[in-house]
Amino acid sequence: MANNEELFKKIISHAKEYGFVFPSSEIYDGLSAVYDYGPFGVELKNNIKEYWWESMVRYHENIVGLDSAIFMHPDIWKASGHVDAFSDPMIDNKDSKKRYRADVLVEEHLQKIEDKIQKEVEKARQRFGESFDEQMYRTTNQRVVENQAKIDSIKTRFYASLGKNDLADVKALIEETGIVCPVSGTKNWTEVRQFNLMFSTQMGSVNEDANMIYLRPETAQGIFVNFLNVQKSARMKIPFGIAQIGKAFRNEIVARQFLFRMREFEQMEMQFFVKPGEELQWFEFWKKERMKWHTSLGIPASKYRFHDHEKLAHYANAATDIEFEFPIGFKELEGIHSRTDFDLGAHQKLSGKKLQYFDQETSENYTPYVVETSIGLDRTFLAVLSHSYREEKLEDGSERVVLNFPARLAPVKVAILPLMKKDNLPEKARELMDSLKFSFQCYYEEKDTIGRRYRRMDAIGTPFCITIDHQTLQDNTVTIRDRDTMLQERIPIEGISEIVQKKIFPAA
Ligand code: GAP
Repeated sequence: MANNEELFKKIISHAKEYGFVFPSSEIYDGLSAVYDYGPFGVELKNNIKEYWWESMVRYHENIVGLDSAIFMHPDIWKASGHVDAFSDPMIDNKDSKKRYRADVLVEEHLQKIEDKIQKEVEKARQRFGESFDEQMYRTTNQRVVENQAKIDSIKTRFYASLGKNDLADVKALIEETGIVCPVSGTKNWTEVRQFNLMFSTQMGSVNEDANMIYLRPETAQGIFVNFLNVQKSARMKIPFGIAQIGKAFRNEIVARQFLFRMREFEQMEMQFFVKPGEELQWFEFWKKERMKWHTSLGIPASKYRFHDHEKLAHYANAATDIEFEFPIGFKELEGIHSRTDFDLGAHQKLSGKKLQYFDQETSENYTPYVVETSIGLDRTFLAVLSHSYREEKLEDGSERVVLNFPARLAPVKVAILPLMKKDNLPEKARELMDSLKFSFQCYYEEKDTIGRRYRRMDAIGTPFCITIDHQTLQDNTVTIRDRDTMLQERIPIEGISEIVQKKIFPAA
């Protein structure tokens, strides 16, 4: 198997060739970090959205949905803190002319030291076998202790400098730790500057009276400002949640990782409103609940991990990321944040409108606290796609690329393939297509040999291929081929719907 970088490239090119993801504006040489979803990509994306929406909104009676506008009053972004503080520290290398996020450079440097420690630990584990005491080793082995001390001191200084917005010290730290530009290999850095990530545009027809507005950098604020509208109209009682799926826009400084870091992307967010003082217990609840959702997709639990935030945003009293092992390493897929009453409080203050909840049982008014779950749809797409990508050598020496998507997420569930383009086989196949297409996403294809058609369906991750042959005309049976085992079984046409249904919803 290719190394991870090569593997990542292969996945990107597979996604393009097989109609999942295209670079945006390709005929004009593309638009950086913006992508279009092709025919199979949009199906996969919709299936992920549906799975999230069903599990959040349909299965939780105390969560309701919302679809708020992308454009919002510009004061919303003042209140939320985005105008003043939604920025990343950036730095340029003067030789390569490449731009980096200063925090990412430092974090990657720390990861390299962490990897060294881990290597030492693993070597020792093999040497000492069962009697190995990792805790003891980490606190007594000189090299490990020194490296750990390096990590701790860099982290302490780095977060302190960032916290004080002392960007000169961030630059000094980068220089002193010997971080070099991965492209030029030099330490010829510019000053570090803060760069606001929000895109802005003008609203209004005449330039003079046009107002500057922002493209939302998160969907969450649309939920906060509608808190009372939703609570009253849907008659919700605390604790309750509001869920939303929608586009968000960020002018990312470094956006070179395909769907992982895009400038236009989609979020699936849920704000859960709770009584002050109960937020940490709901935070723990949502941590568990969201991890369950991820593993219920059929991807092994070992591909996920929590990463608790050491440095909390000023408005949060707990925060964690669910990280996924992408081909580019373990990276954030979802954030779970206990945001206190920061957002509702800030909107109340700036708008002058009350955003409070009246608790009928205790007859008190209060500003609810909020626990948020925020997952990137495109990152989930990338997680599912990269986990499902397989290059297989078959027994007959040939090779195939298969996407073994969890069946319920597969863009096409059933391929309907007449063995030949004659002898009434296409007509019979069309009949089957017409009977199944209202229940499942089906794909009809009669061109090319059956073997090539199977390969194409493997490459887009279709769990079932149904072949209509001459025997079908005699006894109304077909062969059904399983994508993963490649085994074929002959079954009566009437049984197809049930078999497919069972595979897609195994527990039902
Ligand atoms: N409302 C909270 C919020 O927006 P965030 O951690 O900034 O929190 C939430 O974003 C999720 O959105 C991330 O975990 C990630 O999956 C996704 N996301 C953020 N920036 C992204 C980008 N530039 N491209 C793709 N997905 C992104």
